[in-house]
Amino acid sequence: MEFLEVIKTRKSIRDFSSKSIPEKILQEILEAGRIAPSFQNRQCWHFIVVTETKLRKQLALHNGLIGKVNFFIKNAPVIIAACADPSQSGTLNQQNYYLVDVAIAFQQMMLTAWNFGIGSCWLAAFKEKKVKKILALPANFRVVAISPFGYPNKKEHIYSKAVKTIARSKRRKDIKKIVSYNYYEG
Ligand SMILES: Cc1cc2nc3c(=O)[nH]c(=O)nc-3n(C[C@H](O)[C@H](O)[C@H](O)COP(=O)(O)O)c2cc1C
Repeated sequence: MEFLEVIKTRKSIRDFSSKSIPEKILQEILEAGRIAPSFQNRQCWHFIVVTETKLRKQLALHNGLIGKVNFFIKNAPVIIAACADPSQSGTLNQQNYYLVDVAIAFQQMMLTAWNFGIGSCWLAAFKEKKVKKILALPANFRVVAISPFGYPNKKEHIYSKAVKTIARSKRRKDIKKIVSYNYYEG
């Protein structure tokens, strides 16, 4: 795909076919994260690639009350937990840059995946304590996001349609509302 086509066609995918992701493509996706920019180039991230069925089911179905809304990840062949060691990043202006570092890297991975026809969905609804336990993460690590990765199923589940409607996923603010030139024009 052309670069702009990747950006413009990307959407959250919540229905996955069981087709596995070829190893070469999975490595390309991970590489896109590895080469991302970060605070002082400190690369505070760690990505846990979950392929074992037992672990994927645990993440999908035993991830606290909040995690239950994202049960659909159980069907994806791969789930990636995007984690950070905050001590490896930094803070300026009271902003914790480990969040920014990991977000940039993970989005690069998601866009690369989409380029290969592989869908994903950024998830914030998970119980971090449970995820850390399931994945045996060090105590000081933070789980910034998790996402399923897989080929989209042609048939959309009623749940995915409902989420998209509730979140009004296709809606974006008008460019004039989010951009000012030179000075803030509220
Ligand atoms: C920080 C963040 C958290 C999100 N958490 C969830 C989530 O827990 N579950 C879910 O189904 N979608 C989640 N989403 C996906 C959004 O609902 C989605 O990006 C938005 O509706 C726009 O739709 P699109 O990604 O298809 O363009 C999240 C997205 C972001 C960026």
